[in-house]
Amino acid sequence: MQVTTTVEETRKLVKNWKKEGKTIGLVPTMGFLHEGHASLIRRCREENDIVVVSDFVNPTQFGPTEDLEAYPRDFKRDSELCESLGADLIFHPEPKEMYHDPHAYVSIDTLSDTLCGKTRPIHFKGVCTVVSKLFNIVAPDRAYFGQKDAQQLAIIRKMVQDLNFDIQIVGCPIIREEDGLAKSSRNTYLSAEERKAALCLSRAVKTGQEAICKGIKAEEVLSKMRAVIEAEPLAKIDYVSMVDALDMQPVESVEKDVLVAMAVYIGKTRLIDNFSYEV
Ligand code: PAJ
Repeated sequence: MQVTTTVEETRKLVKNWKKEGKTIGLVPTMGFLHEGHASLIRRCREENDIVVVSDFVNPTQFGPTEDLEAYPRDFKRDSELCESLGADLIFHPEPKEMYHDPHAYVSIDTLSDTLCGKTRPIHFKGVCTVVSKLFNIVAPDRAYFGQKDAQQLAIIRKMVQDLNFDIQIVGCPIIREEDGLAKSSRNTYLSAEERKAALCLSRAVKTGQEAICKGIKAEEVLSKMRAVIEAEPLAKIDYVSMVDALDMQPVESVEKDVLVAMAVYIGKTRLIDNFSYEV
């Protein structure tokens, strides 16, 4: 497995692989890899000749009061995991390699104004910008994203369609801890007591999945889910919402495919979870 830190050396490797007629899969990450990331890398390994993992804590997707500095990093462990999963290359640039101020941004505004985009107004602009750059640097045939960040996945799909990226976007299921908590690099912020409290998210997902059916009013499902979270003293709801699965706009009732998503503060840590429902 190779490690690159510059755009130029990454492009050189990619060009050679393409000359050899190899297909390239990309797994974009911010590092501190866990089983969720590993599931994407495994799927990518199965479906492509070459597996590229990007490992970059992208500053432009963090708001001024968010956890950019505190975001956990462990490149040595990440590279060992990637190697064991059969990755061919990790692209691990410094921020100054990726951004020269002032620089261009990519934003897909229509899907970015609800759910996480409300609380994190610049977040998806940063995500779209860095993912576009990675797409242009690595030029993959396929790119892998988790359903864990369902709005991000929907926005990337729309971006690829709107901007004509010739890349197949592959969505992968949420990987959970045995007790149900969705795996996340941010779970490391939780104290033992908060870790227990965080289970209210997956419990709310389960409650929502049991309640939802075609034609039901959104509020009927959401109020049951909110009650589960509100019963947990350490939890504070940011949002619990039901939106159209494609355009991410709120729906009143379940008439077409929907995404039911939530963000909840457990102490200071903001966690997300979701489920999709197809009618
Ligand atoms: P990061 O949070 O590191 O996640 C990288 C990828 O792993 C995302 O596609 C995310 O949805 C997926 N992932 C994380 N936890 C998962 C889980 N429990 N189950 C399944 N997939 C999971 O998302 C980002 O980084 C960044 O925004 C990025 C796209 C890399 C742009 O900077």
